[in-house]
Amino acid sequence: MPLACVRTLFLIAVSAFSLNAADDSNWWKHAVIYEIYPRSFGDSNGDGIGDLNGITQHLDYLKELGVDAIWLTPFYPSPQVDFGYDISDYTAIDPEYGTMADFDHMVAEAKKRGIRVINDMVLNHTSDEHPWFKESESSRTNPKADWYVWRDGKANGQPPNNWVSIFGHSAWQFEDSRKQFYYHEFYKQQPDLNWRNPDVRKAMYDTLRFWMKKGVSGFRLDAITMLFEDANLRDEPYAEGTNMFGDRNVTREYTDNLPEVHDVLKQLHEVTDEFPGRVLIGETYLHTPEDLAKMYGAKNDELQLPMDTQLGFLNKLSAPEFRSILTDAETKLHGNTPLFVFENHDNKRLIDRYGDGVHNDAIARLLAVLLLTPRDAALIYEGQELGVVDVDPKRVEDVKDPIGRLGWPKEKGRDGERLPMPWNADTDAGFSTAKSTWLPVSPDYKTVNVSVENRNPNSLLSFYKALIKLRKQDEQLRDGEFVGVDVDNPNVISFLRKTKDGKAVLVSMNFSSAAQEVKLDLKSTGVSGTHLKKLLASSADLNPPDVGHISLPPYGSYVGHIQ
Ligand code: GLC
Ligand code: CA
Repeated sequence: MPLACVRTLFLIAVSAFSLNAADDSNWWKHAVIYEIYPRSFGDSNGDGIGDLNGITQHLDYLKELGVDAIWLTPFYPSPQVDFGYDISDYTAIDPEYGTMADFDHMVAEAKKRGIRVINDMVLNHTSDEHPWFKESESSRTNPKADWYVWRDGKANGQPPNNWVSIFGHSAWQFEDSRKQFYYHEFYKQQPDLNWRNPDVRKAMYDTLRFWMKKGVSGFRLDAITMLFEDANLRDEPYAEGTNMFGDRNVTREYTDNLPEVHDVLKQLHEVTDEFPGRVLIGETYLHTPEDLAKMYGAKNDELQLPMDTQLGFLNKLSAPEFRSILTDAETKLHGNTPLFVFENHDNKRLIDRYGDGVHNDAIARLLAVLLLTPRDAALIYEGQELGVVDVDPKRVEDVKDPIGRLGWPKEKGRDGERLPMPWNADTDAGFSTAKSTWLPVSPDYKTVNVSVENRNPNSLLSFYKALIKLRKQDEQLRDGEFVGVDVDNPNVISFLRKTKDGKAVLVSMNFSSAAQEVKLDLKSTGVSGTHLKKLLASSADLNPPDVGHISLPPYGSYVGHIQ
């Protein structure tokens, strides 16, 4: 072979490699990330509690579903007061969930299937059983005395101020050994760390390095906006009403989203940059697109994927409001990728929040289309793809989540959205072989489960699979820009995903309980065709011929190529 030829080949090989490497480091940009609640996903050893090997056993299912990454809620050693969000050792595995060897095996098996693993990282607080806290609480002078937020009470023995825990009542807990109070944004067994202390930062950054060396592809940062509290401990102004536990509501302006969070986010970004291709996802319940935009960092040097909870938790089927949030995500996040999320382990399932009892199936499909066709990264919570609904405990003595006991019966806690994953119609829905499982399986598991829905081409699961496949394989859905059309329609959201060559996919979604006729004029969009070729629709008979005649049934949704 002539030398020039060899050289060309070499160059092609090199550039192909570097292209892949570059593409790969941005793998998260259009990713489907699947949230696993390990306790409820798969139980491999029959004790009624899900575990890491149980996840490994179900990786083929996730591969078939088409997910790019799995985010595992905490599996570290924990007294399990908040089911893992109270961590007592950040670099080990709780024996309930398995061993470090099981973890390594799971990561390796996931990798074989092209699935990345994302750990949950709880930086705001530890368990009160963590050795750091044990040391910190032991005296006012020990080396870790300042690792948590300790303050003297008021002269009359009252807490330092009026701050309220998200999980109810005062956020301050008196500790006899120090004769001081410590601050806890969540349960009193979850003392907040003092992020103004550089040693705390270093210790936490090292735990991130530990897991990245083990091959994890990033972190979901729990309660990340809450790392700092006002240094002057000002009382929070009261807001209207009371919470589920009867406390007066406070504004949280001195305990949430303080500007100092951004210094830490930049440092976290630097730490994860030591390992290429890692992603930082934030649990960011923020109310404005401006606040959300800040989480990416002024120089895109903070989080890659702060969660956009404004879309998924709108909690009403309103085309104008969903459209406005979609438009904000396109125009106010500085071109960054939004991460849309409709479900997680802390909130009622989407059917419980959006369903009308008559069109639940169509509504579940509609929201799947809304989640999976824009220019976003998408989160799916285990069971969402099956149409699983919440089942709350009937009796207070059955409640596992402590807020459900404290707030009963107004607040029944989060057990309802954490039931075991229904795999099939066998014992324990195929989740376990135990006599009883840590939470009961849902009463509808014989019909709503993976095995039944896999066999039915018209099931919600088959619909999710088809959507995810399309989103990956169709060039327009993958790379196209987002162009809103028919933007004054009060009932139907329509948009294009359009690539530079003028090719476009049309998405039309009916958010009303009445049939709708849509006539689109796409002249101004630079798309020349008018004929439609169906890619996917919420029902088989939904097959409009062209963009001027789109008839959508109640809550119907349509995705098709314009030709
Ligand atoms: C996050 C978690 C939630 C947990 C809380 C405290 O909101 O998602 O489950 O209870 O943080 O860690
Ligand atoms: Ca188990």
